Amino acid sequence: MAISSTQAIPATQAVPQHVAIIMDGNGRWATRRHLPRTAGHAKGVQAVRRVVEACGRRGVRYLTLFAFSSENWRRPPEEVSLLMRLFVQALEREVDKLNEQGVRLHVVGDMSRFEPRLQALIADAQVRTAANDRLHLSVAANYGGRWDILQATRAMLSQHPELARDPQRIDESHLAEHLSMAWAPEPDLFIRTGGEQRISNFLIWQLAYAELYFTDQYWPDFGAAELDAAFEWYRTRERRFGRTSAQLREDAAR
Ligand code: FPP
Repeated sequence: MAISSTQAIPATQAVPQHVAIIMDGNGRWATRRHLPRTAGHAKGVQAVRRVVEACGRRGVRYLTLFAFSSENWRRPPEEVSLLMRLFVQALEREVDKLNEQGVRLHVVGDMSRFEPRLQALIADAQVRTAANDRLHLSVAANYGGRWDILQATRAMLSQHPELARDPQRIDESHLAEHLSMAWAPEPDLFIRTGGEQRISNFLIWQLAYAELYFTDQYWPDFGAAELDAAFEWYRTRERRFGRTSAQLREDAAR
């Protein structure tokens, strides 16, 4: 299981190893151009391609994209259907390209609400890219951080019913090993486009010690240059994980 930032000090590198992104601003990008909001989502898929490619080239190992939150079902039905169609199209069209780039696809979230055809395409795409290891691309779909913690709690208690009778024995790792991305390290860098500064029920457990980067750019305008700007900012951050700056300097001098 990956190292927990609250239980140990994770190794850090100049290039973030795990980048998590809230791809916000598709609707406003389209509205500014007098286009339907759905045109912004279609353009957003192109930005996904650019960022996946750039992350692979820069040595990022894990990229997690928030494509559809548990709360996005509240949107107008035609926008929800368009987003579902985009997922289906992307899964049908992009798998060969992901394989060429050594990208392993994971879809994380509660799949049970998706129509069977989409569930089957997701399962197939995950199997077809399972041998790749260069970049792990996780698409969070019908995902919510609270859902994740709840499903992990249920799974933990099913596996260890004795813990319910002795809750003092429960430690972080009991729960964390059942989170939907237990196999990945925690995100080093969180990026949110579109000007809002919130986490919106994304990876709320896993973002405990992530560096948070917010930009006003809309997601369809995001690409390699904007990613590099975020990485440059990331390099300036002092990641202390609860320690003092003096301790970091002492460690570096050793
Ligand atoms: C937020 O913008 C974006 C979404 C809810 C959907 C993101 C989906 C994509 C980028 C396309 C599909 C992705 C994949 C991985 C195939 P918003 O609509 O909230 O924008 P707004 O805040 O300007 O209204």
